[in-house]
Amino acid sequence: MEPSPSRAGDAPPAAAGTPPIGPIDHYWADEASRKRFVRDLFDRSAPEYDHVEKLLAFGTGPWYRRDALRRAGLRQGMKVLDIATGTGLVAREAYALVGEAGLVVGLDPSAGMLECARGVATGILVRGYGERLPCRDASFDFVTMGFALRHVADLGLLFREIRRVLRPGGAACILEISRPRSRVASTALQAFMTRVAPLLAGNAARRAEARTLLKFYWDTIEACVSPGDVLLALEAAGFPAPRRHVVLGIFSEYNATREGGA
Ligand SMILES: C[S@@+](CC[C@H](N)C(=O)[O-])C[C@H]1O[C@@H](n2cnc3c(N)ncnc32)[C@H](O)[C@@H]1O
Repeated sequence: MEPSPSRAGDAPPAAAGTPPIGPIDHYWADEASRKRFVRDLFDRSAPEYDHVEKLLAFGTGPWYRRDALRRAGLRQGMKVLDIATGTGLVAREAYALVGEAGLVVGLDPSAGMLECARGVATGILVRGYGERLPCRDASFDFVTMGFALRHVADLGLLFREIRRVLRPGGAACILEISRPRSRVASTALQAFMTRVAPLLAGNAARRAEARTLLKFYWDTIEACVSPGDVLLALEAAGFPAPRRHVVLGIFSEYNATREGGA
């Protein structure tokens, strides 16, 4: 098995210099409280996560995730690590593509999210952080990460870890929402995420949970470094010529390949 249990669940090391988001101080005071805040938020909202995701993506989430993975080259028989697996939405689509000859390992720091991921056909679930992967060098053909780039402590640490666990020639596909370039589109997306979608969430408790989660989503999307900076961080971590594919102006797919291999 790829994960080495001795390191599973370790806290990530302190940030080393490329945080994915600028300061949004009203949520936390320092790195320790940021980590706690993010973990508690996802622990608490885990039972509602799939419902909120469906509202946001109008039910197209599974289809989009599978399409992006296929575009990035995920094929039958591959061994995949899905970082920030959450309730397993990317892992499930990865599993459909790699089939029984492949393997999908889902990793996440939130026990609540992992609990909800159980029962999804991922094979192995591991508690851990993307910045310190409890996995052996060169042990995966493919690494995925869906909509979680904004939640890590440091892009450099994350990308170097991804490169380390990929075999030479292995590929990474990182999905993220980016702020639209046009101000009108950006305002419309903000209104949809923070006002409209929570209203559709159901009873009062569900609406409150969705509002908290989606407000945080929007704030981190707004504070996120530019796609150009993400590509630069990938390059600095040792991935030659990383690429970004954009769908509908907001869905960024970062594709990077470890040099070497056949
Ligand atoms: C928005 S959810 C994404 C879930 C899933 N990948 C998807 O496509 O829907 C973000 C996930 O990132 C996880 N996460 C937060 N910080 C992380 C970190 N430092 N390393 C790995 N995962 C992290 C959270 O626990 C949460 O499950």
